[in-house]
Amino acid sequence: MARAADAVLETSIVGSFTKFGLSTRRSLPQWPADPAPHSLRDHVVLVTGGGSGIGAECARQLSMLGARVLLGVRTPSKGANTAAWIRDTVPGADVDVIDVDVSDFSSVRHAARNIVANELRLDVIVHNAGVLPRERLDSNDGHEITLATHVLGPLLLTELLRPALRASQNGRVIFVSSGGMYTQRLPVEDPEYHVGVYKGATAYARTKRMQVALTPLLAQRWAGDGISAHAMHPGWANTPGVVDALPGFHKVMEPLLRDARSGADTIVWLAASHPAPSSGRFWHDRRERSQFRIPRTRHSDQDVVRLWRFCCDALELPAV
Ligand SMILES: NC(=O)c1ccc[n+]([C@@H]2O[C@H](COP(=O)([O-])OP(=O)(O)OC[C@H]3O[C@@H](n4cnc5c(N)ncnc54)[C@H](OP(=O)(O)O)[C@@H]3O)[C@@H](O)[C@H]2O)c1
Repeated sequence: MARAADAVLETSIVGSFTKFGLSTRRSLPQWPADPAPHSLRDHVVLVTGGGSGIGAECARQLSMLGARVLLGVRTPSKGANTAAWIRDTVPGADVDVIDVDVSDFSSVRHAARNIVANELRLDVIVHNAGVLPRERLDSNDGHEITLATHVLGPLLLTELLRPALRASQNGRVIFVSSGGMYTQRLPVEDPEYHVGVYKGATAYARTKRMQVALTPLLAQRWAGDGISAHAMHPGWANTPGVVDALPGFHKVMEPLLRDARSGADTIVWLAASHPAPSSGRFWHDRRERSQFRIPRTRHSDQDVVRLWRFCCDALELPAV
């Protein structure tokens, strides 16, 4: 009965993605339990884009569970303000700011070196940093900016931090994707979006699709190191990113939007639940969800491998 009610919500999109989705699901029987208090004591977590919105609230929730929190930010003032807010609101909070522009490979390498030098282990990475550009931009390394921010930078960061995640013995990597990815097919022929008229929302959705498509492959790749990989989407949350990138949507939908804490709910659950949720899956509101809503957006396993090889070439990583 609970599963049927959840499934009805899931088909409706608005019913699922808005604040009603989470509040209704929470009230259903079989809602998965919250992480236990102190479940992240002695754990170290990194949240990219942790200076605002869902990332900031996620970092605060993880801190409340006892984690040492590293806020990965590219705007130092936002990191400092969020760190101060967490220290003010969470007694005994252990939080530090790491400067990192995840779209910039040299910044990613520098941040990873810092983390490896200063932390004995890393238990969770939340790849939350996200961008929806108004016009085409390329990263410092010459990659389309959403590809660099959502896919290439996070993959490089994770690969560089693998030894620290391995030391956790239960490392978890979480990609914060978007329900917008349901509208787009995996762009294996043109991952850099050279063909056609560039639209920021399309680039955003394609690269969020890539995160979800790559997650099962990454789960296999990292399993030998005891590292799990998860993708999720937060629904529609009222954050500075939505106000800035989608002002019309925000104006119309504001009364229905989740707050940032509700947007962070499934991230925190994936990060802190014991035992860990199954690796390689796509989640929303603490349940596994289909990767597809529209038949024309389906891809094959070979498409995913092709995309993975492209990423490895771009990052000069071994594919196996
Ligand atoms: N809110 C929603 O309804 C919604 C829906 C679906 C998915 N999401 C996803 O949720 C995540 C958080 O978004 P949000 O809504 O909380 O928006 P937000 O408040 O704008 O947060 C995004 C954060 O990412 C940071 N960021 C962007 N590019 C970065 C880079 N290259 N390096 C490091 N940090 C970078 C931003 O930092 P600066 O401020 O310094 O640019 C900002 O702090 C994103 O991945 C977004 O795609 C959100």
